[in-house]
Amino acid sequence: MMGATDLKLSVTGIAGGMADPFDSGRYDGRMPYRRCGRSGLLLPAISLGAYETLGGYRDAATSRAILTRAFDGGITHIDFANNYGTPPGNCEIVCGQILRDFPRDELTLASKAGWRMWPGPYGDFLGKKYLVASCEQSLKRLGVEYVDIFYLHRTDPETPLEESLGALDQLIRQGKALYGGVSSFNGAHFAESVRVCQRDGLSRIAIHQPAYNMLDRRIETDLIPQLERAGVGAIPFVPLAQGLLSDRYLSGDIPPDSRATHRWGVEGTQRRLTPERLTQLRGLNDIALARGQSLSQMALQWILRLPAITSVLVGVSSVEQLDQNLGALTGPVFSEDELSRIDALTR
Ligand SMILES: NC(=O)c1ccc[n+]([C@@H]2O[C@H](COP(=O)([O-])OP(=O)(O)OC[C@H]3O[C@@H](n4cnc5c(N)ncnc54)[C@H](OP(=O)(O)O)[C@@H]3O)[C@@H](O)[C@H]2O)c1
Repeated sequence: MMGATDLKLSVTGIAGGMADPFDSGRYDGRMPYRRCGRSGLLLPAISLGAYETLGGYRDAATSRAILTRAFDGGITHIDFANNYGTPPGNCEIVCGQILRDFPRDELTLASKAGWRMWPGPYGDFLGKKYLVASCEQSLKRLGVEYVDIFYLHRTDPETPLEESLGALDQLIRQGKALYGGVSSFNGAHFAESVRVCQRDGLSRIAIHQPAYNMLDRRIETDLIPQLERAGVGAIPFVPLAQGLLSDRYLSGDIPPDSRATHRWGVEGTQRRLTPERLTQLRGLNDIALARGQSLSQMALQWILRLPAITSVLVGVSSVEQLDQNLGALTGPVFSEDELSRIDALTR
């Protein structure tokens, strides 16, 4: 299923000669590693997002089980942000504690700043003071000396791009972040950011984190051509539309102990689960079943069909969900007919 850029790594043991408590077969080829645009960064085809779940509506024990299974399965990249978890920041605290038992040099950790994190004029958007302070806070919560990727989490209509990208460049030059990224920038704003970095001699943007899934295909025409032109990788978030692209909502009922029960509220759930949406989801599920896979597996594999995509960033509530999602890596290649039927349901 993977393209020519897929790489297989073969490494045994962890640094320092310590006993390795993790699966010694974690780099045995089950997980492909894909190059992130024109950079030296390799990411697993499936990465783990920590957003609402880890340190949020899933406790520390579940978070540890998920992180361990992910790493055992070759998922070397975990995605955080300053405001993830309940209360905001708790995700980095809980997972940071757990990840102290993991080999840091085998992990690619990301964090972000851009959404409201603390009160007052310096706790939101993309001003330099906020970005620098927030990165410091994330390093402390995670218990690491650097993050591998630091993102501008959203656009800022007021702050000049030069300032935000300059702050990112400063963090990279100080060694607090290795690569810079942006998230949810549209095609034009992203292209302008690339131009500003080139013009001002700033560290280049290495990765973009956009929303992308079968129910939200906006980036295909707007952003992806710009990413390819700039040689920048992409790691889509909400690949399962926060769980809608799974078998959990197909009956129309709200599953107990789900993202919907914990986060969406009655209004949000009604907005997401319209009769038209249910028909669409059931149609997609029929295609997935005919391919011999679950809807979530098909949804993830479908994103990875595009060479512009480096990795798909999925959140999970349990080890079982993670295991099922890893099955996306071994699904049958999409036929033209299947892709057309998916297009007919999602365009
Ligand atoms: N840059 C940004 O602005 C931004 C925004 C949002 C997210 N993100 C990142 O992207 C990551 C992924 O986004 P997300 O977690 O919001 O959405 P997602 O990956 O589309 O959905 C995750 C949810 O789908 C359900 N799920 C996953 N696998 C399943 C399976 N096999 N069977 C049934 N249900 C399954 C779970 O729901 P239940 O918990 O209900 O079981 C899980 O919590 C985040 O963790 C975060 O790192 C970034």
